[in-house]
Amino acid sequence: MAICTTRLDRFISEFCQINRKAVRLILAQKRVSVDGNIATDIAQIVDQFSSIVMDDKILQQNKAHYIMLNKPVGVVCATKDEKHKTVIDLLVGQFDQETLDSLHIVGRLDLNTSGLILLTNDSRWSERLTSPEHKVSKCYQVTLKNPVTDEYITAFAQGMYFSYENITTKPAVLRIISPFETEVILIEGRYHQIKRMFGRFRNPVVALHRDSIGQLTLDKSLSSGESRVLNAAEVLM
Ligand code: URA
Repeated sequence: MAICTTRLDRFISEFCQINRKAVRLILAQKRVSVDGNIATDIAQIVDQFSSIVMDDKILQQNKAHYIMLNKPVGVVCATKDEKHKTVIDLLVGQFDQETLDSLHIVGRLDLNTSGLILLTNDSRWSERLTSPEHKVSKCYQVTLKNPVTDEYITAFAQGMYFSYENITTKPAVLRIISPFETEVILIEGRYHQIKRMFGRFRNPVVALHRDSIGQLTLDKSLSSGESRVLNAAEVLM
Protein backbone atom coordinates (compact mmCIF):
# COMPACT_ATOMS: atom_id res chain seq x y z
CA MET A 1 0.00 0.00 0.00
CA ALA A 2 1.66 3.25 -1.12
CA ILE A 3 2.16 6.04 1.39
CA CYS A 4 0.47 9.14 -0.01
CA THR A 5 2.47 12.21 0.87
CA THR A 6 3.03 15.17 -1.38
CA ARG A 7 4.05 18.82 -1.28
CA LEU A 8 1.24 21.26 -0.61
CA ASP A 9 1.88 23.25 -3.81
CA ARG A 10 1.72 20.10 -5.91
CA PHE A 11 -1.48 18.97 -4.20
CA ILE A 12 -3.23 22.31 -4.84
CA SER A 13 -1.86 22.58 -8.36
CA GLU A 14 -3.18 19.12 -9.28
CA PHE A 15 -6.44 19.43 -7.37
CA CYS A 16 -7.34 22.88 -8.74
CA GLN A 17 -5.66 22.39 -12.13
CA ILE A 18 -3.64 25.59 -11.81
CA ASN A 19 0.07 26.19 -12.23
CA ARG A 20 2.56 26.32 -9.35
CA LYS A 21 3.08 30.08 -9.75
CA ALA A 22 -0.62 30.66 -9.15
CA VAL A 23 -0.48 28.33 -6.14
CA ARG A 24 2.44 30.29 -4.68
CA LEU A 25 0.37 33.47 -4.91
CA ILE A 26 -2.64 31.84 -3.24
CA LEU A 27 -0.45 30.60 -0.39
CA ALA A 28 1.18 34.03 0.02
CA GLN A 29 -2.32 35.52 0.25
CA LYS A 30 -2.94 33.17 3.22
CA ARG A 31 -5.99 31.60 1.61
CA VAL A 32 -5.11 28.01 2.47
CA SER A 33 -5.18 26.18 5.78
CA VAL A 34 -3.87 22.73 6.62
CA ASP A 35 -5.33 21.05 9.69
CA GLY A 36 -6.74 24.40 10.81
CA ASN A 37 -3.48 26.38 10.46
CA ILE A 38 -2.80 28.93 7.73
CA ALA A 39 -0.27 27.39 5.34
CA THR A 40 2.19 29.56 3.42
CA ASP A 41 5.06 27.13 2.83
CA ILE A 42 4.88 25.69 -0.70
CA ALA A 43 7.03 22.73 0.40
CA GLN A 44 4.83 21.74 3.35
CA ILE A 45 4.25 18.00 3.22
CA VAL A 46 0.63 16.84 3.34
CA ASP A 47 -0.82 13.34 3.34
CA GLN A 48 -4.19 11.75 2.68
CA PHE A 49 -5.44 12.69 6.15
CA SER A 50 -4.41 16.37 6.07
CA SER A 51 -7.48 18.55 6.12
CA ILE A 52 -6.90 21.13 3.36
CA VAL A 53 -9.18 24.13 2.98
CA MET A 54 -8.91 26.98 0.45
CA ASP A 55 -11.18 30.03 0.63
CA ASP A 56 -13.56 28.10 2.92
CA LYS A 57 -13.79 25.30 0.35
CA ILE A 58 -12.74 21.85 1.60
CA LEU A 59 -10.24 20.38 -0.86
CA GLN A 60 -9.56 17.29 1.23
CA GLN A 61 -10.88 15.91 4.49
CA ASN A 62 -10.33 12.19 4.94
CA LYS A 63 -10.81 10.36 8.18
CA ALA A 64 -8.38 7.64 9.20
CA HIS A 65 -10.00 4.32 10.16
CA TYR A 66 -8.46 1.66 12.41
CA ILE A 67 -10.46 -1.51 13.02
CA MET A 68 -9.84 -4.81 14.80
CA LEU A 69 -11.75 -7.91 13.79
CA ASN A 70 -11.96 -11.38 15.27
CA LYS A 71 -11.69 -13.34 12.03
CA PRO A 72 -13.56 -16.64 11.97
CA VAL A 73 -12.23 -19.75 10.24
CA GLY A 74 -13.59 -19.93 6.67
CA VAL A 75 -13.46 -16.18 6.03
CA VAL A 76 -10.86 -15.01 3.53
CA CYS A 77 -8.46 -12.10 4.08
CA ALA A 78 -9.26 -10.33 0.83
CA THR A 79 -11.41 -7.40 -0.16
CA LYS A 80 -13.32 -9.45 -2.77
CA ASP A 81 -13.72 -13.17 -3.31
CA GLU A 82 -15.97 -15.25 -5.54
CA LYS A 83 -16.17 -18.25 -3.24
CA HIS A 84 -15.76 -17.21 0.39
CA LYS A 85 -17.03 -14.50 2.69
CA THR A 86 -14.33 -11.81 3.10
CA VAL A 87 -13.25 -9.84 6.16
CA ILE A 88 -14.76 -6.78 4.46
CA ASP A 89 -18.13 -8.58 4.16
CA LEU A 90 -18.09 -8.88 7.97
CA LEU A 91 -17.94 -5.08 8.30
CA VAL A 92 -20.89 -4.32 6.02
CA GLY A 93 -23.57 -2.42 7.91
CA GLN A 94 -21.11 -0.95 10.41
CA PHE A 95 -19.27 1.32 7.97
CA ASP A 96 -20.39 3.17 4.84
CA GLN A 97 -19.35 1.89 1.42
CA GLU A 98 -16.77 4.64 0.90
CA THR A 99 -15.02 3.65 4.14
CA LEU A 100 -15.18 -0.06 3.26
CA ASP A 101 -13.67 0.68 -0.16
CA SER A 102 -10.80 2.59 1.43
CA LEU A 103 -9.71 -0.21 3.79
CA HIS A 104 -6.79 -2.56 3.41
CA ILE A 105 -5.83 -5.56 5.53
CA VAL A 106 -2.77 -5.33 7.80
CA GLY A 107 -1.07 -8.74 7.56
CA ARG A 108 -3.23 -11.60 6.38
CA LEU A 109 -4.28 -14.86 7.97
CA ASP A 110 -4.99 -18.09 6.11
CA LEU A 111 -8.57 -19.13 5.38
CA ASN A 112 -8.54 -21.67 8.22
CA THR A 113 -6.80 -19.40 10.75
CA SER A 114 -8.86 -17.35 13.20
CA GLY A 115 -8.16 -14.31 15.35
CA LEU A 116 -6.85 -10.79 15.21
CA ILE A 117 -7.06 -8.95 11.91
CA LEU A 118 -6.45 -5.22 11.61
CA LEU A 119 -7.91 -3.08 8.86
CA THR A 120 -7.14 0.53 8.06
CA ASN A 121 -6.98 3.14 5.33
CA ASP A 122 -3.79 4.59 6.85
CA SER A 123 -0.91 3.05 4.93
CA ARG A 124 1.75 4.68 7.10
CA TRP A 125 0.28 2.97 10.16
CA SER A 126 0.06 -0.42 8.47
CA GLU A 127 3.62 -0.07 7.12
CA ARG A 128 4.89 0.35 10.65
CA LEU A 129 3.20 -2.90 11.68
CA THR A 130 4.17 -4.97 8.66
CA SER A 131 7.57 -3.80 7.43
CA PRO A 132 10.32 -6.33 8.30
CA GLU A 133 12.65 -3.73 9.81
CA HIS A 134 10.17 -2.97 12.58
CA LYS A 135 10.18 -6.65 13.67
CA VAL A 136 6.66 -6.45 15.10
CA SER A 137 5.86 -9.70 16.91
CA LYS A 138 2.71 -11.68 16.21
CA CYS A 139 1.48 -14.15 18.77
CA TYR A 140 -0.44 -17.32 17.81
CA GLN A 141 -2.13 -20.10 19.75
CA VAL A 142 -1.49 -23.37 17.96
CA THR A 143 -3.24 -26.69 18.54
CA LEU A 144 -1.41 -29.73 17.16
CA LYS A 145 -2.44 -33.22 16.14
CA ASN A 146 0.49 -34.87 17.93
CA PRO A 147 2.21 -33.97 21.21
CA VAL A 148 5.11 -31.49 21.02
CA THR A 149 8.51 -31.90 22.65
CA ASP A 150 11.30 -29.53 23.77
CA GLU A 151 13.04 -30.21 20.44
CA TYR A 152 10.48 -27.93 18.81
CA ILE A 153 11.54 -25.00 21.01
CA THR A 154 15.14 -25.23 19.77
CA ALA A 155 14.15 -25.72 16.13
CA PHE A 156 11.82 -22.70 16.16
CA ALA A 157 14.45 -20.54 17.90
CA GLN A 158 17.20 -21.59 15.46
CA GLY A 159 15.11 -20.89 12.36
CA MET A 160 14.26 -23.30 9.56
CA TYR A 161 15.54 -23.29 6.01
CA PHE A 162 12.89 -23.37 3.28
CA SER A 163 14.46 -24.18 -0.07
CA TYR A 164 11.41 -23.12 -2.09
CA GLU A 165 11.95 -19.45 -1.15
CA ASN A 166 15.63 -19.94 -0.19
CA ILE A 167 15.05 -18.36 3.22
CA THR A 168 15.78 -19.24 6.80
CA THR A 169 13.03 -18.19 9.17
CA LYS A 170 13.91 -15.61 11.82
CA PRO A 171 14.20 -16.87 15.42
CA ALA A 172 10.71 -17.67 16.72
CA VAL A 173 9.62 -18.29 20.29
CA LEU A 174 7.65 -21.45 21.01
CA ARG A 175 6.11 -22.06 24.42
CA ILE A 176 4.58 -25.38 25.30
CA ILE A 177 1.25 -24.82 27.03
CA SER A 178 0.20 -28.48 27.11
CA PRO A 179 1.22 -31.53 25.04
CA PHE A 180 -1.02 -30.50 22.14
CA GLU A 181 -1.02 -26.73 22.60
CA THR A 182 1.67 -24.14 22.03
CA GLU A 183 2.08 -20.40 21.77
CA VAL A 184 4.27 -19.20 18.91
CA ILE A 185 5.67 -15.70 18.48
CA LEU A 186 6.89 -14.72 15.01
CA ILE A 187 8.47 -11.48 13.85
CA GLU A 188 7.75 -12.20 10.19
CA GLY A 189 4.93 -13.65 8.15
CA ARG A 190 6.06 -16.17 5.57
CA TYR A 191 3.56 -18.15 3.50
CA HIS A 192 1.80 -20.68 5.79
CA GLN A 193 4.77 -20.22 8.10
CA ILE A 194 3.49 -21.86 11.26
CA LYS A 195 1.95 -24.82 9.47
CA ARG A 196 5.14 -25.40 7.52
CA MET A 197 7.32 -25.12 10.62
CA PHE A 198 5.28 -27.76 12.43
CA GLY A 199 5.25 -29.68 9.16
CA ARG A 200 8.99 -30.23 9.68
CA PHE A 201 8.01 -32.45 12.59
CA ARG A 202 5.21 -34.05 10.56
CA ASN A 203 2.84 -32.61 13.10
CA PRO A 204 -0.29 -31.13 11.49
CA VAL A 205 -1.76 -27.92 12.88
CA VAL A 206 -5.32 -28.59 13.97
CA ALA A 207 -6.21 -25.00 14.93
CA LEU A 208 -4.40 -21.68 14.59
CA HIS A 209 -5.50 -18.45 16.23
CA ARG A 210 -3.76 -15.06 16.33
CA ASP A 211 -3.96 -13.24 19.66
CA SER A 212 -1.86 -10.16 19.11
CA ILE A 213 0.13 -8.00 16.73
CA GLY A 214 2.77 -5.99 18.58
CA GLN A 215 1.11 -4.41 21.61
CA LEU A 216 -2.36 -4.81 20.14
CA THR A 217 -4.27 -7.72 21.62
CA LEU A 218 -7.56 -9.08 20.34
CA ASP A 219 -10.37 -7.73 22.52
CA LYS A 220 -11.70 -10.74 24.45
CA SER A 221 -15.21 -9.30 24.30
CA LEU A 222 -15.30 -9.68 20.50
CA SER A 223 -16.94 -12.93 19.47
CA SER A 224 -15.87 -14.63 16.28
CA GLY A 225 -16.82 -12.35 13.35
CA GLU A 226 -17.20 -9.24 15.50
CA SER A 227 -15.16 -6.07 15.12
CA ARG A 228 -14.65 -2.69 16.72
CA VAL A 229 -12.85 0.57 16.07
CA LEU A 230 -9.49 0.95 17.85
CA ASN A 231 -9.28 3.62 20.52
CA ALA A 232 -6.68 6.41 20.33
CA ALA A 233 -4.26 4.66 22.70
CA GLU A 234 -4.39 1.46 20.64
CA VAL A 235 -3.66 3.34 17.43
CA LEU A 236 -0.52 4.80 19.03
CA MET A 237 0.73 1.47 20.43
N1 URA B 1 1.08 -19.15 9.86
C1 URA B 1 0.25 -19.92 9.12
O1 URA B 1 0.58 -21.03 8.75
N2 URA B 1 -0.97 -19.40 8.82
C2 URA B 1 -1.38 -18.19 9.23
O2 URA B 1 -2.52 -17.79 8.93
C3 URA B 1 -0.51 -17.42 10.00
C4 URA B 1 0.73 -17.92 10.30
